[in-house]
Amino acid sequence: MPVQIIVGAQWGDEGKGKIVDHLSEHVDIVARYQGGANAGHTVVIPIKGPGGITTKEYVLHLIPSGIFHKHVTCVIGNGVVLDPAALMTEIGQLRELGIPMKGRLLISHNAHLIMPYHKLLDSIREQGDQKIGTTGRGIGPAYIDKYMRTGIRVVDLLDRDTLCAKLKRNIEENNQLFSKVYNSNVLDVDEIIHEYQEFDKKIDEYVTDTSVYLNAALKKKKRILAEGAQGALLDVDHGTYPFVTSSSPTSGGACTGLGIPPTAITSVIGVVKAYSTRVGNGPFPTELNDETGERLRKTGGEYGATTGRPRRCGWLDLVSLRYSLRINGIQKIAITKLDVLDEFEEIKICTGYRVNGKKIENFPTDLRTLESVEPVYRIFKGWKTSTSGVRSYGKLPEKARAYIEAFASLLGTKVWMVSVGARRDQTLIAR
Ligand code: GDP
Ligand code: IMO
Ligand code: MG
Repeated sequence: MPVQIIVGAQWGDEGKGKIVDHLSEHVDIVARYQGGANAGHTVVIPIKGPGGITTKEYVLHLIPSGIFHKHVTCVIGNGVVLDPAALMTEIGQLRELGIPMKGRLLISHNAHLIMPYHKLLDSIREQGDQKIGTTGRGIGPAYIDKYMRTGIRVVDLLDRDTLCAKLKRNIEENNQLFSKVYNSNVLDVDEIIHEYQEFDKKIDEYVTDTSVYLNAALKKKKRILAEGAQGALLDVDHGTYPFVTSSSPTSGGACTGLGIPPTAITSVIGVVKAYSTRVGNGPFPTELNDETGERLRKTGGEYGATTGRPRRCGWLDLVSLRYSLRINGIQKIAITKLDVLDEFEEIKICTGYRVNGKKIENFPTDLRTLESVEPVYRIFKGWKTSTSGVRSYGKLPEKARAYIEAFASLLGTKVWMVSVGARRDQTLIAR
C-alpha cells in the first residue's frame, strides 16, 4: 500500500514542510528518513482564537511536518542523526502549543546520536580551506562515526556500560584534537554520560523499532508519507560533491533510512521552488549576484530557517531538475512560491548549459565543469498580478499558467500542485 516520498528537487528549502503538512490530512504516518537538525521545515498553521482565525509559523528541525495533524503518527527513522538537545526543545515547543505527543512520535532505536564533539568537530572542519558552509549542527561528523562504526545509537543509551565505554573512547580520541585546537580538554566524559542518560529518561517513551512498526503499518494498508530533508543536489552520492550534506535526501534514501522495502514505494513527489536557492558554498549555475537576486531574496524571504543565513538566489534550472527527476523517479511535481514572482517584469528559466560554446544536455557531476557552465535562458513575460489570493489553478493569470505549463513541457512532466503562499489554503491542484 501507498508509501509516497516527498523529496526536495533542488538544494533544499523548496517548501517541503508546507507540502508535507498539506498532504498529511490524507495520510496516517509521516516519517523522516535522513538528515538531522540541519533541516528547517516551515509549517504555517491556523490558530483559532477569540478574535477569529490567525496563523502561526513553526520551524521543525527533527520532528516530521505531519505533527500538526492530530491523527498522524510521526516517525524519526534510523537514517536520521538525532540531536537530543534540539529534539527536547522541539518537543517542549509543540507541547506548549497543546500538540499531543504521546503515542504520536516514534523514534528509531537505531538512529545515531549527535554528540557534543560532533558539533565541535563540525566547527573545526569549517575553519579549514575547503569550507562547505555547513549548518554547524554536527551532521557530517555524526555520519562519519556511523560509517566508521564508532557511532552511538539511541539503543546504546539503555546499556550504561556500553555507553560509557563507547563515549570514553570517542571523547578521549577527540580530546586530543580539541586540546590542540583549544589548548584544553573541552569535553568531560562524566558530564556527557550524565546529560545523555537524562535524555534517555525523557525520550524512552518514544523509542521503538520503527522498521517493525512501519512494516506492520504497511500490512494494515496504512498510508505513509516519507519526508525527505535537504534536496537532491545536496545528496552525498548525487549532489554537487563535496558541497553536499552527508546523507541521502534522494528517494532511494527512504528505504534504507526507514527500513522499508523498495517494493512498498508507490509514488515520488518532487517539490520545486519557482526559482532556485542555495545556502552554503558550492556551484550554482543560475545564481544572480545582482539586483534581481536581491529582489528574489527579499520578496521570497530567503533567509535560512535553521541558521538565518541569507540564501543565494537565482532562476529555475531545468538541467539540474531533469537530473533530479531522473535520480529520484519523480512522478508528480509541486511548485512552490509562485507568488514570489508576481511582480517581476521578466522571468527566466535555464533550459540548457553551454561549456566552451558547446551545448550539454546532462548535469555535470564534476565540480570544475559545473563551475564553468554558461546557462542558456528562455525569457517569459511576468504576469504582474498578485496570485496569493487565487484559490483554483484555472484562476491563475494566463501568463502564470503559461510559465508553469512551459516549465512542465520543457521538463517533460506534469505539474500536480502549485503553492501561492505559505498557508494551507494557498495550495492549488493543477490536475
Ligand atoms: P523546506 O526546508 O523545504 O521545508 O523549506 P523552508 O521552510 O526552509 O523554506 C520555505 C519557506 O517558504 C518557508 O518560510 C515557508 O513558509 C515559505 N513558503 C512555502 N511555500 C510558499 C509559497 O508558496 N509562497 C510563499 N511566499 N512562501 C512559501
Ligand atoms: P532543509 O531540509 C538547505 C546545506 C548547508 C551546507 C550543506 C552541508 O531545510 O531543506 P550540513 O550542515 O548538512 O553538513 O551542511 O548542506 N544544508 C541545507 N541547505 N536546506 C537544508 O535543509 C539544508 N541542510 C543542509 O547549508 O551547504
Ligand atoms: Mg528548510
